Amino acid sequence: MKSKVFVALDQTEWKDIERLTAALKGSGCGMKVGMELFYAHGPKAVNFIHSHGFSVFLDLKLHDIPTTVGKAMSNLLQLPAVVYNVHVAGGTQMMQMAAKALNDSGRKDVRLIAVTQLTSTTEEMMQKELRIPGSLIECVTSYAKLAHEAGLHGVVCSAQEATAIKLVCGSKFVCVTPGIRPPGSEAHDQKRLMTPVDAIRAGADYLVVGRAITQAQDPARALEELF
Ligand code: C5P
Repeated sequence: MKSKVFVALDQTEWKDIERLTAALKGSGCGMKVGMELFYAHGPKAVNFIHSHGFSVFLDLKLHDIPTTVGKAMSNLLQLPAVVYNVHVAGGTQMMQMAAKALNDSGRKDVRLIAVTQLTSTTEEMMQKELRIPGSLIECVTSYAKLAHEAGLHGVVCSAQEATAIKLVCGSKFVCVTPGIRPPGSEAHDQKRLMTPVDAIRAGADYLVVGRAITQAQDPARALEELF
């Protein structure tokens, strides 16, 4: 089960990266490198974490004009990460350019996925601020369908939406789910939450867990206790 977890290393201090990779080495989990870490330390962070035996999810959520995203993906594919992502909101052509970059790279070990709606987004915020009418689940499932049709392997979504997405896109379409909290733990800025056990039951293929592990006294034990 621990191989289904990507620990979100949302830290910028290098000593924290060393501490967390040492604490979790050999545990079987993967690591997620997001904007905070990548913008602070760049490729060095991906190479370092990979060299300690972790699978890396490079969570940079690309969202720009199609040509830029295609070229950026080609550059990022030089790194030893195995999961990459873009935003569905960038549109079909943008996702297709990212998929083409992957295809051209010849790498078969990579999964390219797309963010539907961030797990910090509520339905109200989506309607009022992003000005997307309808329900959140309608938006997320139609975004997942777009990603599927553009040739991507899966989506980042809330575990609350995994069942509906699998119905629309098929069981092999990968659902990677942040917004995971063990029962009774703090939500922080996340809104669409689920517990680890419920997320797996709902069809999540991989769980992204950040603060519940990285802020624990004993990260390896926190990982152990997720299930
Ligand atoms: O600490 P926590 O478990 O909330 O961390 C969640 C991680 O997942 C963060 O790195 C965040 O950027 C990422 N993420 C998210 N919602 C998405 C996509 C990624 O929370 N839809």
